[in-house]
Order: sequence, then C-alpha cells, then structure tokens
Amino acid sequence: MSTSSATPLLQAEGLHTYYGDSHILRGIDLSIEAGETVSLMGRNGMGKTTTLRSLIGLTPPRRGRITIRGKESTRLNTHQVIRQGIAFVPEDRGIFPNLSVLENLTMAARTGPDGRDEWNLDRVLELFPRLGQRLTNMGNQLSGGEQQMLTIARALMTNPDLIILDEATEGLAPLIRLEIWVVIRHIKSTGIASIIVDKDINALLPICDRNYIINKGEVVYHGRSRELLENPELHKQYLGV
Ligand SMILES: Nc1ncnc2c1ncn2[C@@H]1O[C@H](COP(=O)(O)OP(=O)(O)OP(=O)(O)O)[C@@H](O)[C@H]1O
Ligand SMILES: [Mg+2]
Repeated sequence: MSTSSATPLLQAEGLHTYYGDSHILRGIDLSIEAGETVSLMGRNGMGKTTTLRSLIGLTPPRRGRITIRGKESTRLNTHQVIRQGIAFVPEDRGIFPNLSVLENLTMAARTGPDGRDEWNLDRVLELFPRLGQRLTNMGNQLSGGEQQMLTIARALMTNPDLIILDEATEGLAPLIRLEIWVVIRHIKSTGIASIIVDKDINALLPICDRNYIINKGEVVYHGRSRELLENPELHKQYLGV
C-alpha cells in the first residue's frame, strides 16, 4: 500500500532467464513493498511463471539482481529464499499426495524470519474450516479446491511476509474461486504481501494495489489498479480482453 521510499521487501532488477538456449525473460524489473498486493498479468506463455520461478530460485536468472529487504539474494536456492519469509504457491499446488492434510500442514510449520508465529494449525483451520474436516485425508483424496486451500494454508504455516501465488484460482469451480479470493483478501488484511498471477482480471484489480503486465518476457506496463480499471483499452492492448 505504501508509496514511501522504504526498502522494498523484494526487488528484481534486469532479470534475464533462460530455459536452455531459449531466452525467456528479457530484463524484468519488479518490486513489492511490505504489505503490498501486486498482480502479474500477461497472455499465455509470456513469462509469468518464469518470473515467479526466477524470484524464488527455482529457475535462477542468468543475469540481473534480486534483493530481499535490500539484501542480495540472487543466488539463494529456494529453501534459502523461503527462509527469508517468501512462500510460493505453485500452479501445480505441489502438495504431498501420500501424506495426510494434517501432515502436509505440520511439516510446513515454522516461525517467520523475525520470529513471528501467529499462523499456526488452529489459525489456518479457522481460515479453512473445510481442511479441518479433512485432516486425516491423504493429499490425493482432496478436490482441486481443497488442494489449493491446503497449498495456501501450508504457505501461511511458514509465517511468511510475502506469498507468491501462480494461477490462484485456475481450474477451480466458481464458488471455490470466490472462496479463494476471500482468503486472499483476508491474507492482505493481515499485512502479508502477495504477488498474484491469475487470469481473472476483474477479481484481481480490486484486490491489488499495483499491477505488472508482461509481454514476451518484458514488463510492458505497470501501474496502480485505479489506472487499469479506468483504462479498459490497456486491457485490450496488453491482455487481449
Ligand atoms: N521448462 C521449460 N523449458 C523450455 N521452455 C519453457 C519451459 N517452461 C516454459 N517455457 C517457455 O517459456 C515461455 C514462458 O513460459 P511461462 O510458463 O513463464 O509463461 P506464463 O506467462 O506463465 O504462461 P501461462 O499463462 O500459460 O501460464 C513460454 O514460451 C514457454 O513455452
Ligand atoms: Mg504460467
């Protein structure tokens, strides 16, 4: 929310990321402040997932620089990034199919980088009562919506300062989507920052403070939601909607 010149929570400068010889990200600049909610939009295949993967060390950039709270983090591996209070909710959810819901949750539990521990089992089950009814179910016995709830709950169990969500509501039934947006709003209200990728611009814009649009591995637009809301021609130009 803040527009101060405080040190960003996470900042990426000039990221160039490749898959083998394919040059995918071509100088991505992006930053997010503590407590901010930011979207990353763009058509299919433009590099949204690759950007998120680069930020958390899953597909490290070949060039460019990433800092977390002003500290160089470009070469950290994913575990080290997570320990800095950054949680990732990947598109494929990535829950453990042969562990129970309870085990999936408890194995993720940790205090945040500043020792914060307000998110624990009780608190996540309050946010996701459905998971409370499924504690002994195995990960692979859950519906798509329950899997997504479990993945977000697991991210919260790490007491993060930032949650990165790839395709937050993709493939989910309409009512479950609404539930996920309610949860994302709640997360925002607790002061946790989010970077969200989703195809539902109408759901994203009212929640997000700022938005980035990427096209062929470059940021072609970034601005406040109000500007995007008031300029539907920008949607057409960059998003084709
Ligand atoms: N593992 C990979 N190996 C080679 N190329 C890849 C790989 N993953 C993605 N790509 C390519 O990188 C480009 C960017 O893909 P990315 O998944 O980041 O896009 P995206 O914006 O997330 O798309 P979508 O909206 O479909 O999720 C695409 O051209 C894609 O084909
Ligand atoms: Mg993607």
